[in-house]
Amino acid sequence: MEQKKKSKVAVYALAGGGVVILLLLLVLFVTLVAKSMGGMGSVTLMAQWLDGQTLSLDLETPPPPENGDSIEAGKAIFEMRCIACHGIKGDGKGKRANELKTRPADFTSGFFKWKSTLDPAPTNLDLFKVIGRGLHGTAMLPWPALRPAETWQVVYYIKTLSDLFEENQPKPVNISGPTRSIPSSILLGKKVYEKAKCYECHGFEGRGDGQKAGKLKDYKGLPIKPRNFIEETLKRGNELDEIYLTIATGLNGTPMAAYSKTLSEDEMISLAYYIRSIARKPAGQGMISAAMHMTPDEQMGMMIDHVMKPNVLRPNLNK
Ligand code: HEC
Ligand code: HEC
Repeated sequence: MEQKKKSKVAVYALAGGGVVILLLLLVLFVTLVAKSMGGMGSVTLMAQWLDGQTLSLDLETPPPPENGDSIEAGKAIFEMRCIACHGIKGDGKGKRANELKTRPADFTSGFFKWKSTLDPAPTNLDLFKVIGRGLHGTAMLPWPALRPAETWQVVYYIKTLSDLFEENQPKPVNISGPTRSIPSSILLGKKVYEKAKCYECHGFEGRGDGQKAGKLKDYKGLPIKPRNFIEETLKRGNELDEIYLTIATGLNGTPMAAYSKTLSEDEMISLAYYIRSIARKPAGQGMISAAMHMTPDEQMGMMIDHVMKPNVLRPNLNK
């Protein structure tokens, strides 16, 4: 009897010890991830981002000069943080690229999607925005761990990877303000959605199921899906200006065309209001809920950026 009791106690003690060890491991894991992201503040930012919120950018801190030293510094950051996906040459052929549904951008190709210009080249600010805010739903997570100066430096480096960029910054399109009330903008936007045949790809209700949706390819011949506005978070986020820029300048290298030649500014801003009104909104339900609703690519991004970190731990791995 005594013996049995003793062994039971021993089993409980062992199990208790196991739980304590597991908890310790969990704390260690969270601490490591938090450290990699740049502190608990960044963890909160990441949770907000996973929830679909648009992160604010530090545009107050003046950018460093765009010179050889900055480019050199940007190259070092790129090789530490970005090559697992974008590849050492920046051609999108990083070691983990094939594990992603949406492939990493190829900076040597001359195709940039997320820009404010009709020119094929984005502005410095366009690149800064993508790095600071990430692209929702994809493995391109935001980088709160980078200081603004570091983000600018890596922007300058990316620009050296193709001959797209000239000395002068390309001109951003004009973003016009609303000319009527929000409800009447939404109403007009719904009409423009039909007139411009957005439904052919995005579907009548915006669920990404239009008649052309299944057959689309990007410039590399890879299949690409139109956004499902209802169920997916907009990659660029829900801010009106960002939606407007997608409509006005298109997503270069994809079937998503630029509409600024065919639609008026008024029609485009109304469309942006309409898309925002039907787009999936952040749930605002905190860190755990955000973590549970990650897309597979976002999960891979978290693994690569903050858990595996092959190049941070072993800097010479991919050289
Ligand atoms: C875990 C994988 C991953 C890592 C690491 C990563 N990216 Fe990305 N990146 C992507 C993917 C995927 C896309 C394409 C998303 C899309 O456009 O749909 C992308 C797109 C981009 C774009 C947008 C280009 C365009 O088409 O306009 C920029 C700029 C960029 N990444 C910069 C960086 C920088 C700088 C780093 C390092 C600080 C980095 N990325 C690290 C996966 C990654
Ligand atoms: C020929 C097919 C096609 C048509 C027509 C089309 N789109 Fe798209 N659209 C796409 C594809 C494909 C994507 C996804 C691109 C990506 O994720 O890289 C997209 C993405 C978008 C996005 C999402 C950007 C983000 O941040 O995720 C918006 C907004 C959008 N389209 C608006 C429109 C509007 C408004 C119209 C009509 C004026 C329209 N599209 C017409 C194919 C199309």
